[in-house]
Amino acid sequence: MSQQISIELIDEQSTQHLGELIAKYLQAPLICYLQGDLGVGKTRIVRAIIQSFGYAGNVKSPTYTLVEPYQLKTVSAYHFDLYRLSDPEELDYLGIRDYFDQQSICFIEWPDKGKGWLADADISIHLEYFGEGRRCLITAHTTVGILLFTKLKQNL
Ligand SMILES: Nc1ncnc2c1ncn2[C@@H]1O[C@H](COP(=O)(O)OP(=O)(O)OP(=O)(O)O)[C@@H](O)[C@H]1O
Ligand SMILES: [Mg+2]
Repeated sequence: MSQQISIELIDEQSTQHLGELIAKYLQAPLICYLQGDLGVGKTRIVRAIIQSFGYAGNVKSPTYTLVEPYQLKTVSAYHFDLYRLSDPEELDYLGIRDYFDQQSICFIEWPDKGKGWLADADISIHLEYFGEGRRCLITAHTTVGILLFTKLKQNL
């Protein structure tokens, strides 16, 4: 059922543009995993998405807080960064299930660190270094993921 596309992001502006496009078409509830090496641009995409919803504040990396909540105009969003999680069980204390139960959008960086405690992704974005820029592999796993994926593919 899953569908995949590879996109080249030649510079930061291309990453920004992809984020804006995702924001335009995404609908809650949605779970989006963001994968790829340190500094590859996962937070950069989430920042573009959240700011595209008109959020004027600072969108900082949740490296130390694990999760940053955003009340956007039409939807709640949660941005996770699980890099510093030493034991996935910590997610239980964080009340992770409640986040997934809501009509919200969850962006999860380093989802492998939370293995066993996370809801499955509707869509995943895998970034890798590619020359001066980045390459981005988007995979849709579920019906809602494919809905977003199809819109992106049509408008890239
Ligand atoms: N397409 C691109 N080409 C070149 N540079 C890019 C591109 N997209 C983003 N960048 C740059 O890559 C960096 C991305 O940093 P960011 O914090 O988003 O990484 P990250 O994947 O979230 O890292 P971490 O795993 O540490 O959270 C920024 O400095 C940004 O300017
Ligand atoms: Mg990050």
